[in-house]
Amino acid sequence: MIRINENYLKLKSSYLFSEISRRVNAFQEEHPDREIIRMGIGDVTLPLPSEIIKAFHAGVEEMADSKTFRGYGPEQGYDFLRETVAQNDYRSRGADISTDEVFISDGAKCDTGNFQELFSNDTRIAIPDPVYPVYVDTNVMAGRTGINNNGRYENLVYMNCTNANGFIPELPSEEVDLIYLCFPNNPTGAVITKEQLKSWVEFAHKNRALILYDAAYESFIRDNSLPKTIYEIDGAREVAVEFRSFSKTAGFTGTRCAFTVVPKDCMAYDATGNKHSIHSMWNRRHTTKFNGVSYPVQKAAEAVYSPEGKKQVKEIIDYYMENAKIIKEKMTALGYESTGGDNSPYIWINTKTDSWKFFDMLLTKLGIVCTPGEGFGRCGEGYIRISAFNDRENVVKAMEKISGL
Ligand code: MLT
Repeated sequence: MIRINENYLKLKSSYLFSEISRRVNAFQEEHPDREIIRMGIGDVTLPLPSEIIKAFHAGVEEMADSKTFRGYGPEQGYDFLRETVAQNDYRSRGADISTDEVFISDGAKCDTGNFQELFSNDTRIAIPDPVYPVYVDTNVMAGRTGINNNGRYENLVYMNCTNANGFIPELPSEEVDLIYLCFPNNPTGAVITKEQLKSWVEFAHKNRALILYDAAYESFIRDNSLPKTIYEIDGAREVAVEFRSFSKTAGFTGTRCAFTVVPKDCMAYDATGNKHSIHSMWNRRHTTKFNGVSYPVQKAAEAVYSPEGKKQVKEIIDYYMENAKIIKEKMTALGYESTGGDNSPYIWINTKTDSWKFFDMLLTKLGIVCTPGEGFGRCGEGYIRISAFNDRENVVKAMEKISGL
């Protein structure tokens, strides 16, 4: 008899963004003539810029010629992309990251979800609340939690992120081994200063813990005093793994390319206290379970860093950030408090009411899709997240509709 992994029974029946899709599709089916503006999932709307498309096409052409055709590539990614990433995203900012510490993948969702499997089942995990649900659900699937009681899983250490602490988690008062941090934050749009990040790196050193640092939204940082990578902090190489993505930065949500940085100085321990290299373990996992990102996609990703590619990508980011400004200003004028939107494409809005009810109201009355804060955790109750990834026309129209409420 085939038996199930019963940890799956502890999960909510569907993933947050699948549940939102289900509700939106049901509404659209009942009201086929109603226009729907989607500001829920953070999915880009602008096409890939021409410089990236040119490189993508060139990569495809190489695959059509027997002299340049390629079969399996290195699982960790081609050196041309790993080196470009290490140089442009890290060494140019004074962060000492080598080419072979960069692992190319098909998404930060997969990497943040998969990374936990390197660690023991009794790992004590610190999770911000609200949180990108992937960090929690993948640990539930792996059996590291008890059941869900009132929106919180047993055996997880939740770090409340509220208006009172500026949506920045405080250092846990108990010992933890694995810490998930995401800045600029999804969903709150909050950003962390170098000083605050330094205290996390010190905490991790003291506890021999590891920080999983999700920096998928770093390209939206406008304030130059803020850290773009955790490796700008001294000592982070020993205690932090960083996740990045081309999805939001360069419009790759449908093209799929991301990377994870695993410094060789990061160590984890076995039951007798012996050190093991996390880099070697991730390399072992990656080469066993992943066959690399397609060559044309990696060529397209490399073009993000060419002088013209950088310029075009910046224009796209500026466009979305102008959307964010429009949303934030309008919601503020309507009397809603919010965070995010300044260094992040997400605006986290206090609705002072049940977040799913507000979601349903926006959908049924105005045809606008947002993300209900409660879907990100208990501390998200009362909030909604609006995504700035949309066409300008839709953003302006949505804000006019909300103003008319
Ligand atoms: C989000 O809307 O939170 C993200 O688009 C989800 C993701 O990147 O997987």
